[in-house]
Amino acid sequence: MPETKGYGLLKGKKGIIFGALDDRSIAWRIALACKREGADFVLSNAPIALRLGTLNALSEETSAPIIPCDVSSESDVEAMMNEVKKELGSVDFILHAIGMSPNIRKKIEYNDINYSWFKQTLDISAISLHKILHYAETTGLINDGGSVVALSYIGAQRIFSKYSDMNDAKALLESIARNYGSRLAHRGIRVNTVSQAPTKTSAGTGIKGFDGMYTFAEKIAPLGNPSADECADYCVTLFSDLTRKVTMQNLYHDGGFVTTGISEEMIEGLLRLYAGDEENES
Ligand SMILES: NC(=O)c1ccc[n+]([C@@H]2O[C@H](COP(=O)([O-])OP(=O)(O)OC[C@H]3O[C@@H](n4cnc5c(N)ncnc54)[C@H](O)[C@@H]3O)[C@@H](O)[C@H]2O)c1
Repeated sequence: MPETKGYGLLKGKKGIIFGALDDRSIAWRIALACKREGADFVLSNAPIALRLGTLNALSEETSAPIIPCDVSSESDVEAMMNEVKKELGSVDFILHAIGMSPNIRKKIEYNDINYSWFKQTLDISAISLHKILHYAETTGLINDGGSVVALSYIGAQRIFSKYSDMNDAKALLESIARNYGSRLAHRGIRVNTVSQAPTKTSAGTGIKGFDGMYTFAEKIAPLGNPSADECADYCVTLFSDLTRKVTMQNLYHDGGFVTTGISEEMIEGLLRLYAGDEENES
């Protein structure tokens, strides 16, 4: 893929980027794209992720301060927003790239789910968007005409068995984006989710069966799976002034996967795989 040149789309804009852990993180790639387009921003992640990940390197590369925040703590979110206010004044965009399921981590099947972990999945991966929007609004941090993007996955609409309770979390995340979007629209603030294809990151590859999901999507999508850098370019357009009337949408960034039934390549592959089965059945 040729490297995207900068268009200055975010010149003069300020933002918050949640969820960059290491250089494979989608948020990391988005931070680099935002910098390329002229934005200034704050980076944030949970304190434990700051210890385990490599966010300092991104902070140095993009001259972006780091403000820790565990989004499962309401007081952390409020305090963080006040810190950002001191650092940047106010912001024009927010990226929510946060996802975590203790049930998936511990390889617990959906029907044997641990309910306290289920609540954590929903809290960290979805309700956190509500908290972030609430405190961005009540602290006066987010500017009129701002743009908020949260990363989602097609598990919100279709069942991907190994995605377990994250399917539910993404459905809730998308619903919160619509509901909050309707309440912030009078200020010209947009809230959207971007439904990204499987991407080889720490959260992605932590899912049992991820390689199968990745290959399946790659073989079905007419344009193939988009990379994290391509997702970053798309998010830049949503943070920019070029998409001022796009809100309350779940926008698929998946190479055409969602509207494709089956590809020719998949048909050929399945025919080869199951050759002989029909004869055996008859
Ligand atoms: N990788 C994929 O295949 C894929 C596909 C579609 C959507 N997404 C979504 O993209 C987003 C980013 O994930 P990624 O794939 O880049 O993986 P990632 O592991 O790099 O990012 C997930 C981030 O969530 C953060 N996080 C977890 N608990 C937190 C907490 N309590 N407080 C604050 N932050 C916390 C982690 O520290 C990490 O930085 C997630 O919402 C994920 O569901 C990923």
